[in-house]
Amino acid sequence: MSKFCSLLGTLCIVSAVVASPGEDHFEREFGVYTSCTKSNQIALTFDDGPWINLRGISDAFTNADAKATFFWNGNNFDCIYDQDRVSDIQYTYSAGHQIGSHTWSHANLTILSKDQIVDGLYRMEEAFAKILGVLPNIMRPPYGSTNGTVESISFSRGQNVVLWDQNTGDADDATVEFSKGVYDTVANDHLSNALILEHETHNTTANDLVPYAINLFQSRGYQLVTFAECVGAQPYRATGRPQERDSSWTCNGTPAPGRGCGGNIPCKSGLVPPPRH
Ligand SMILES: *[C@@H]1O[C@H](CO)[C@@H](O)[C@H](O)[C@H]1NC(C)=O
Ligand SMILES: *[C@@H]1O[C@H](CO)[C@@H](O)[C@H](O)[C@H]1NC(C)=O
Ligand SMILES: *[C@@H]1O[C@H](CO)[C@@H](O)[C@H](O)[C@H]1NC(C)=O
Ligand SMILES: [Zn+2]
Repeated sequence: MSKFCSLLGTLCIVSAVVASPGEDHFEREFGVYTSCTKSNQIALTFDDGPWINLRGISDAFTNADAKATFFWNGNNFDCIYDQDRVSDIQYTYSAGHQIGSHTWSHANLTILSKDQIVDGLYRMEEAFAKILGVLPNIMRPPYGSTNGTVESISFSRGQNVVLWDQNTGDADDATVEFSKGVYDTVANDHLSNALILEHETHNTTANDLVPYAINLFQSRGYQLVTFAECVGAQPYRATGRPQERDSSWTCNGTPAPGRGCGGNIPCKSGLVPPPRH
């Protein structure tokens, strides 16, 4: 694996060979992103779902002819296989918003073993293949907590590591006024672009911040786009058909929120096969 980091430090490109069962080895470039690259584009990103606010956020963007990006957990605020969450996920994906992984259980990856990190990514790939028939090519480490081990595991599984350059602080108990001020500063300073962190699990984010941000940025002439669009990348590693629900669509016997695999929860590994067309 070879590694090159730009002088600006915003993007490290790493060449990694990704092997998928049934496919030839293919070489792609993966990196750690902390910002968008296109001008006049803003990517609003929502972590920690799927949760009850998802459909409303999806609709707010869709109705404004805008796109959002979601980084989901498997077992955090809710179980990703809950029937309501499954239908909200399929609804949001169908609306053209971008989907990424936030790991299975929202554990701090830099205190996990390699096997536990792999497990946290594997279980999300499996869930996305089952529910949507896609393999995302982006992951966001919980808390933005990452290091070289986390990154090389992510790259080897075909996933870029995506952080942010603007933080609304909504998960850190910032007030709504503070978070709006983050948006105001981006617009008033005429920043060329922004990659902004929000959380769909906060009601005030869904109810107050989303309409405020959409209105503000569009009125100032920004386009609200997916992460993939604002960096000029493909949104998915593979796309195909969702699967039928079966007894494997469960969070029972999987790592609990904040925890890694191990003990009586076996660590899963390997590469999830690309979904069939
Ligand atoms: C995650 O673990 C690192 C140690 O690798 C620690 O410095 C950091 O504070 C932890 N983050 C959280 C949110 O617990
Ligand atoms: C990342 O953090 C883990 C846990 O602290 C540590 O074992 C590993 O060596 C770190 N990797 C790098 C490349 O620093
Ligand atoms: C968020 O909203 C839901 C329903 O609208 C409500 O049930 C829940 O208690 C609210 N959460 C908080 C933390 O206020
Ligand atoms: Zn998170």
